[in-house]
Amino acid sequence: MTTSNVPVIAIDGPTASGKGTVAHRVAERLGFHYLDSGALYRLTALSALRSETALTDEHALSKLASGLHCSFSGDKIMLASEDVTHAIRAEEVGNTASKIAALPTLRQALYGLQLRFRMPPGLVADGRDMGSVIFPHAPLKVFLTATPEARAERRYKQLIEKGFSANMDDLLKDLWERDARDSSRAIAPLKPAEDAHLLDTSDMTADQAVEQVLQWYAQIKKH
Ligand code: CDP
Repeated sequence: MTTSNVPVIAIDGPTASGKGTVAHRVAERLGFHYLDSGALYRLTALSALRSETALTDEHALSKLASGLHCSFSGDKIMLASEDVTHAIRAEEVGNTASKIAALPTLRQALYGLQLRFRMPPGLVADGRDMGSVIFPHAPLKVFLTATPEARAERRYKQLIEKGFSANMDDLLKDLWERDARDSSRAIAPLKPAEDAHLLDTSDMTADQAVEQVLQWYAQIKKH
């Protein structure tokens, strides 16, 4: 079956820009499938931390990525038979994900897995290279931004809600470091695709951002 005519909305942005929440809600509103590509990097990071694989061992890390036994059901993320929905959200896992995501072989190992999420009636794909590498012909690409302070505040609330402890100063520092690492890496750096719509969400609620994305999509469908 060819899926090249299944519409894809690619949503990207820096860490804690709200892209996950917005992408998820857009998918729900349109009845589309949802790909949280960051979760795949986080799952690989979790496996690496648990198996104490050196974060410089590209070959071993890529093998972990290509051998990932993961499944997504509703809001639940499973690694083999274990529910790791909560565990993969820890800051240590996110920071490790950001480090190993710079490895080309590892990114290649996750490529095919991501393509398989493109199924009728459509897909909302969330993550770095969704519009630039994985789905370059996506009819709609959105890049969400927000000030570092707004993003640190969101991440703080998110972590506290999930029962993790958090400190604003540390978060802001982590966020700067993560931005720098994600923006400067050679492969799939954090930057808007040339044809992406930019949306600054610093002073917007998630619902307002969702409405804007839906409006853009409705316009595209008309043409
Ligand atoms: O929202 P945040 O960036 O903290 O987390 P995420 O979307 O869960 O992604 C975790 C890390 O995986 C990011 O820092 C990226 O470096 C990396 N990632 C990537 O390189 N490519 C993707 N398509 C998705 C995530």
